[in-house]
Amino acid sequence: MKDVLAFLKKNQTRFVRELCEYVQFPSVSAQPAHRKDLAACAQWLVRHCRQIGLDAELRPTEGNPVVLARTPRTNSARKPHYVVYGHYDVQPPEPFELWKTPPFDPRVRGSSLFGRGASDNKGQHLAHLNAVEAYLKTGAELPCDLTFVIEGEEEVGSKSLAGFLEKNRGRLRCDGIVISDTGLVSKRHPTFTYGLRGIMAIEVKLFGPSRDLHSGIFGGTVENPALALCQLLARLRDKNGRITIPGFYDDVEPLTTYERKQLARLPFSESSYRRFLGVLQLFGERGYTPIEQRCARPTLEINGLTSGYQGEGSKTIIPAWASAKITMRLVPNQTPERVQQLFMRHLRKIGPPTVRLEFKPEHGGEPYVVSPQGQAAQAALRALKNAFGCEPVLMREGGSIPIVNAFKKILGADSLMLGLALPDDNAHSPNEKFDLEVFQKGMRMSAHLWRELAA
Ligand code: BES
Ligand code: MN
Repeated sequence: MKDVLAFLKKNQTRFVRELCEYVQFPSVSAQPAHRKDLAACAQWLVRHCRQIGLDAELRPTEGNPVVLARTPRTNSARKPHYVVYGHYDVQPPEPFELWKTPPFDPRVRGSSLFGRGASDNKGQHLAHLNAVEAYLKTGAELPCDLTFVIEGEEEVGSKSLAGFLEKNRGRLRCDGIVISDTGLVSKRHPTFTYGLRGIMAIEVKLFGPSRDLHSGIFGGTVENPALALCQLLARLRDKNGRITIPGFYDDVEPLTTYERKQLARLPFSESSYRRFLGVLQLFGERGYTPIEQRCARPTLEINGLTSGYQGEGSKTIIPAWASAKITMRLVPNQTPERVQQLFMRHLRKIGPPTVRLEFKPEHGGEPYVVSPQGQAAQAALRALKNAFGCEPVLMREGGSIPIVNAFKKILGADSLMLGLALPDDNAHSPNEKFDLEVFQKGMRMSAHLWRELAA
């Protein structure tokens, strides 16, 4: 282990250089124009995996390819087998003008590497690859067999991955999944995430007149779809932050007193949180703390709102249509299917007869909670403690990784979520960064993890 850790330390500069190369690919899965960049990025990753000594291949899917890379299997006694999951696709970088350095021209500033995807998720799974490289290159015996599954569609709902898991069920049979794609409370609070929220994404479109109309000539006689949409959306939440869709909370599992106590122990300052987010006041469901609101309570958000003229100056029209992109975050035991039904039924019921309503359901994913008491979880906690030099904390996260439920259903395996993204890493925001000290500690955590899991 000493050699492995020394190797990680010695090669940090090269690891950062390789992460830069990796972040240079604009692998934006939401934008069809970037399909080639996704393929090129996946090819780079395959080449990199081969260079460090893995058996790696590019596996095509209906969408973006999956990178599959296995540690060389030795003939010795059966070792535990773990799948390490990550994603090489990234969120769109827009708005470009808010980036201090270009999103796909990664730069080191201070102790961080800035670039889209540096933290979510390229740097995080590269930390695991680097740890494996350290084992392979120093000749130390890897205590586990590992298979890396790095996909290219996580940020758009992992559409092809469940099918891929089904097809490769045999090769992927394993003792557990390891994922570094969640948050780290702080450098002094290494974090074991035992729960994620689910998600239901849908677009609502309202159609009014057959074309944009002169708002003076016709205004006053026809419904304005933009205004109708605003009125509809405004009715979906009350002043206490509760979602007003009938039946929405029916399946929600209440927080236990024990869990509320545990969550209350996490470090949190309301005023610095408020300042960090740049808001005048916090707002959330009444009766819950901000930590509870963001990790264990369901929400409804408007992610995008479009209608009418968006250019410079004014244009006097009644727009022909208006649309809203909506996501709802779900908690146990809500399901995306049921919530989608409730949502559509409710909007159909309260939608005015003056406009035609259209729904475009997008991706969905169930919430996930796993017990932190199990043996693997305990091993992970020891690895975190060893690498970061302090006691880890247990967390439930507000974000979603829909594929963890497919891992459970298809492979029967639980996921250990050991995130390396700091709260100020700006995931999905301009100026995304990855802390390079956390990068190194993440590699160490990974190195320890395989020994702890095999023990
Ligand atoms: N890495 C995030 C998920 C995440 C971030 C979980 C922080 C917990 C804490 C992931 O890449 C992501 O953003 N997922 C999407 C999933 C969606 C597009 C289906 C999300 O949560 O919005
Ligand atoms: Mn991610």
